[in-house]
Amino acid sequence: MKAASALDYRALAKARLPRFLFEYIDGGSYAEVTLKRNVADLEAVALRQRVMADVSRIELGTRLFGHDMAMPVALGPVGLSGMYGRRGETLAARAAAAAGIPFTLSTVSVCPLAEVAKASPAPIWFQLYMVRDRGFMRDLLDQARAAGCSALVFTLDMAVAGTRYRDFHSGLAGAPGPMGSLRRFGQAAMRPRWAWDVGINGRPHQLGNVAPVLGKKSGLNDFFGWIGSNFDPAVTWKDLDFVRENWDGPLVLKGILDPDDARAAADFGADGIVVSNHGGRQLDGVLSSARALPPIADAVGERLTVLVDGGVRSGLDVVRMLALGAKGVLLGRAWAYALGGGGEAGVAHLLQLIEAEMRVAMALTGVTDVKAIGRDILAD
Ligand code: GLV
Repeated sequence: MKAASALDYRALAKARLPRFLFEYIDGGSYAEVTLKRNVADLEAVALRQRVMADVSRIELGTRLFGHDMAMPVALGPVGLSGMYGRRGETLAARAAAAAGIPFTLSTVSVCPLAEVAKASPAPIWFQLYMVRDRGFMRDLLDQARAAGCSALVFTLDMAVAGTRYRDFHSGLAGAPGPMGSLRRFGQAAMRPRWAWDVGINGRPHQLGNVAPVLGKKSGLNDFFGWIGSNFDPAVTWKDLDFVRENWDGPLVLKGILDPDDARAAADFGADGIVVSNHGGRQLDGVLSSARALPPIADAVGERLTVLVDGGVRSGLDVVRMLALGAKGVLLGRAWAYALGGGGEAGVAHLLQLIEAEMRVAMALTGVTDVKAIGRDILAD
């Protein structure tokens, strides 16, 4: 099949990846209500069709956090993405750089920071969680600075981890031990192409950034254990001073879904926020990003840069999010599907599709500059 959309890449990824990896990307927490809302609420955003505007030139370029970008889109942090292709984070980072947009490396990536920064011809963004071991955090922030990372995306919505049933059913999560490994091995054996390309030739399969603290226990088995025992649920706004003291570049706080928290982020002095429910992977039942975004943009849009993620599967969705008040949009599952379904070329192709879809959406709503997209292109 030749992919023509992010959803086509989802089908390809499902066919190519071992089950436990596909389910990890595709799934959300509990009954996946918020996961579905993210997509449904965004799809329900109706645009105003306009005609007879000169739309022969469409301007997509923008500048976020001192970063010139070919379009207001970045690849957001996705855990374990080094398993969706051979050394997958390096592939996605290269595709993003070629498209002129930033790639955000997750703390829980397979490839360590230095490997991805070296492979990427452009500066990357780095995502970090608050973990109990502040020495570990300081060390990673030092590495991010040394690697030239141009923004820190700091995740706030994982004080505790939501339960994703699919990861239990697939064998990714659950009691550590040989059973999980055996099941994953069996699933990998059913995907021989992946098993050879990534399973065998893409090693080591460690959490590259966490390996130094996990020591020998840095396989997939230990991923959820590490999250459970190391994420710091005691964190409050004043702990963020620690991050500021150890990071002097742009600081973007990810996981804001409430205008009061957005105001607190602005009071703290964050450079940006990401309106996000973690792709429906944390608290199931919360608002979709598309519904949470407008009141947040109204509350703090003048004080910091508002980004958003959640449910974005096309360039049309990007335009919808910009109309709802975002200045930039992070892709998550969309690029992970493309990487799993088509490798580096798949991510590059997805970004071309997104760009082309944005151009069509802007032309037919009569907007020629991406920076001018506002609520006036919404139909209701
Ligand atoms: C990690 O942040 C995840 O959502 O799995």
